[in-house]
Amino acid sequence: MTSIVGVTGGASGIGAAICRELAERGHTVVVTDVDEAGARALAAHLPAAHACALDVTDAAACAHAVAVIEREVGPLTAWVSNAGVSRMAPFLEIDEAQFDFTLDVNLRGLFFASQAAARVMAARKSGCIVNIASMAGKQGRVPFLADYVASKFGVVGLTQAMAFELAPLGIRVNSVCPGFVATDMQVRELEWEARLRGTDPDSVKRQWIADTPMGRLEQPQDVARVVAFLLSPDAAFITGESIAVNGGAFMD
Ligand SMILES: NC(=O)c1ccc[n+]([C@@H]2O[C@H](COP(=O)([O-])OP(=O)(O)OC[C@H]3O[C@@H](n4cnc5c(N)ncnc54)[C@H](O)[C@@H]3O)[C@@H](O)[C@H]2O)c1
Repeated sequence: MTSIVGVTGGASGIGAAICRELAERGHTVVVTDVDEAGARALAAHLPAAHACALDVTDAAACAHAVAVIEREVGPLTAWVSNAGVSRMAPFLEIDEAQFDFTLDVNLRGLFFASQAAARVMAARKSGCIVNIASMAGKQGRVPFLADYVASKFGVVGLTQAMAFELAPLGIRVNSVCPGFVATDMQVRELEWEARLRGTDPDSVKRQWIADTPMGRLEQPQDVARVVAFLLSPDAAFITGESIAVNGGAFMD
């Protein structure tokens, strides 16, 4: 049976790597993103892929996107809530607008996107969901990202709560916690952290690599392979888990 997987924030970075990895492994991928052109451009280069505009901060749009996928592509067997944002600022300077923006995408958006997918899976008593959290979802010892840390700890807790309630409905739910991943988000964070520390982006990058026992920046595909594993039958008895994929940068 064909596996149909929806991915949020799939147009770039980790989400795009997840779409590529899953497509190469034979899944039918639906690339969704607030950047519709980016989603369509990626889907055009993947075997058997589809694209769909989706801003996860709009809960009604999440439900609508899932309904469109079910009608036009087929029954969703898996869902990856990957869309996320970050902005760096000292805790004392984070205002309501920044807090709301971060929580709106990373936690509220993920909640309603994963819920929309879970609702159609529940009706069939079968499915698998992966939420993308972060190393900053397991430790708060992270500079200038207090709102992001709060959102990602929320994702780890939500993953457990979802797994607990959805297990009797045949749905597994896990999250993946990446470390220092080389994406556009990282390029922005290198600039911010350098400015906030009064140094340059290359020095920050060297520090992040020095903080990683495996001695290199993480690549989006490092995350994508673990997502593919969690969606595979090899992970059939794993649920409620938040798997660190960070080259040893944080061990819990
Ligand atoms: N890069 C890292 O070091 C790192 C580390 C840990 C966790 N993460 C997490 O991995 C995920 C992907 O991060 P990335 O580094 O690939 O970021 P990125 O900025 O490179 O890509 C994020 C994607 O999400 C999309 N997006 C943003 N807001 C959206 C919204 N409201 N609705 C739908 N799509 C939206 C963007 O258009 C973009 O395509 C995020 O959840 C992020 O928090 C990243």
